[in-house]
Amino acid sequence: MKQIVFATNNKNKLREMREIMDGLYEVLGLDDIGCHEEIVEDAETLQGNAKIKADFVTNNYHLDCFADDTGLEVEALDGAPGVYSARYAGEHCSYQDNVRKLLAALKGVENRKAAFRTVIALNLDGKSYFFEGRCDGQITQEQRGTDGFGYDPIFQPEGFAETFAEMGHEGKNAISHRGRATQKLIAFLKNL
Ligand code: IMP
Repeated sequence: MKQIVFATNNKNKLREMREIMDGLYEVLGLDDIGCHEEIVEDAETLQGNAKIKADFVTNNYHLDCFADDTGLEVEALDGAPGVYSARYAGEHCSYQDNVRKLLAALKGVENRKAAFRTVIALNLDGKSYFFEGRCDGQITQEQRGTDGFGYDPIFQPEGFAETFAEMGHEGKNAISHRGRATQKLIAFLKNL
């Protein structure tokens, strides 16, 4: 079977992608190819950071590769935290630190509109491709739910009464930014 690298150390993302690509590609993680170097994601866009990760693997290991990058863009904060979502509250902050900082920044603010955006960069046979997934919604007034990670307890997707942290994994994956970007990637690979 053809092999492709998913430039991630996140075991959950890797497992999920292996299930989705079963029978199509053997998906290898960074660990599987012996890549333990730190990849510095210092671009100012999601697309730029996804490309940095995919290019690192393709250039150094000469393998086809894809990588993803996600950000939460809040309208009232001019798109922040965006590409800085992981370290919104500081370099070594926790998910809870980020959630608390965002709720504080939106205290008393009426416009709670926000969107998660994921960009996947794919390097295949010497060419580069990008796939984007978006999920619109709003930031709640307080945390609800215990499932998920990151900003899930305060993000309520449009058309739903629950936050991402109150939905099951399957429900979230079907409508989430990452789920949608991944569906586009899979459709592209299946059509080759
Ligand atoms: P990454 O690019 O997938 O590592 O995502 C960057 C940051 O965005 C993470 O550290 C989380 O804080 C946040 N994030 C990404 N995806 C999600 C999600 O599905 N739910 C909640 N937060 C997320």
